[in-house]
Amino acid sequence: MSGTGRHFLQIPGPTNVPERVLLAMARSTIDHRGSEFAEMGLEVLEGIKRVARSSGPVVIFPSSGTGAVEAALVNTLSPSDRVLVFETGWFSHIAWRVVAERLGLAVDYVPGTWRRGASPDILKQRLADDAGHDIKAVVVVHNETSSGVVSRIGDLRRAMNLTGHPALLIVDAISSLGSIEYRHDDWEVDVTVCGSQKGLMVPPGLGFNVLSEKALQAGKRARMPKSYWDWQEMLKASADGFFPYTPATNLLYGLREALRMLHEEGLDNVWRRHARHGDATRAAVRAWGLELVSEDPAEYSNTLTAVLTPEHDSADRLRQVILEQFDMSLGTGLGKFAGKVFRIGHLGWFNDLMLAGTLSGVEMGLDQAGIPHNRGGILAALHVLTEAHQRTEAAPSVW
Ligand SMILES: Cc1ncc(COP(=O)(O)O)c(C=O)c1O
Repeated sequence: MSGTGRHFLQIPGPTNVPERVLLAMARSTIDHRGSEFAEMGLEVLEGIKRVARSSGPVVIFPSSGTGAVEAALVNTLSPSDRVLVFETGWFSHIAWRVVAERLGLAVDYVPGTWRRGASPDILKQRLADDAGHDIKAVVVVHNETSSGVVSRIGDLRRAMNLTGHPALLIVDAISSLGSIEYRHDDWEVDVTVCGSQKGLMVPPGLGFNVLSEKALQAGKRARMPKSYWDWQEMLKASADGFFPYTPATNLLYGLREALRMLHEEGLDNVWRRHARHGDATRAAVRAWGLELVSEDPAEYSNTLTAVLTPEHDSADRLRQVILEQFDMSLGTGLGKFAGKVFRIGHLGWFNDLMLAGTLSGVEMGLDQAGIPHNRGGILAALHVLTEAHQRTEAAPSVW
């Protein structure tokens, strides 16, 4: 492995952390009961609200994303409650179905192929069939990180509203928030779940719940046991910018800086940048003659691209060659995709030349690993990038 230059961390999270964020964290830890902390607490809570396009309260846990998943479930539900979870890939399984079942919830797992997002028609049918309103929550992973498939939350919400079913809508936005279009209020999401380590450009260690009024009301009735994850304690303290227990102060310094960076760029520009990189990456994959996991263009992810390697060719061998020869980490295939899929992360603190370098590493790696492909992926991607720049002027910062 080359010891010079920067390592390319192109897994779909944790993502590259900007120097500004790293430097912001390299400060003395302050008193978390003091006024300086409270000022920061209020700023980051407000910043997350804006990134989620939400007017509701936010809870920040010192946790990974899975902690925020558990918090969403235990704060809204009661033992044995029925939850409809859409199978979209590895994360709908491991982060939602498995966690919900371990907590003693009854999971209706709607089967999926891992190549398509959650279906609004199936959701509408499932809820229409549930005349007794046994289903208390619907869980959807917005951007399935194992497959690069996006579920259309706005369409799913419309399908729910057509049935008049009162179930909560819980959305996992762990690999989409701060990268691709997300609208907590407009889509009437009840709990948005997120983590710090992807589009938010902060190291792992913070988990987020963004709440609706309906989720808050459900929280008052929810009987699942909880202590550490209890929203009520968090909300009492955070009204003044504090936490009920010791917060991850230095990660919050990083979060504050990252939110300022997103603000400076403008969220619409952030979404546009990710769309450009998604388009360019997919152009490269098509030119190589390889197959995308995501089958429907309306569901393509702009934060990562999952690619199938041709039969008998190991995606892991490719990743190993690329790591050893070019010092770049790509995402592995998860669950049933193990060995068959590699994932290119193109989210967070990232630009056109970083993408060009990433795709060059993949194209050289395909050569080195002897995987049958066509040349020209990089050129196809560069063409898309150039065209995109010619078409669009950067929009004024919208926050
Ligand atoms: C969509 C999704 N959900 C849940 C998780 C689990 O989050 P964590 O590993 O931070 O606990 C991940 C992690 O990558 C994810 O991508």
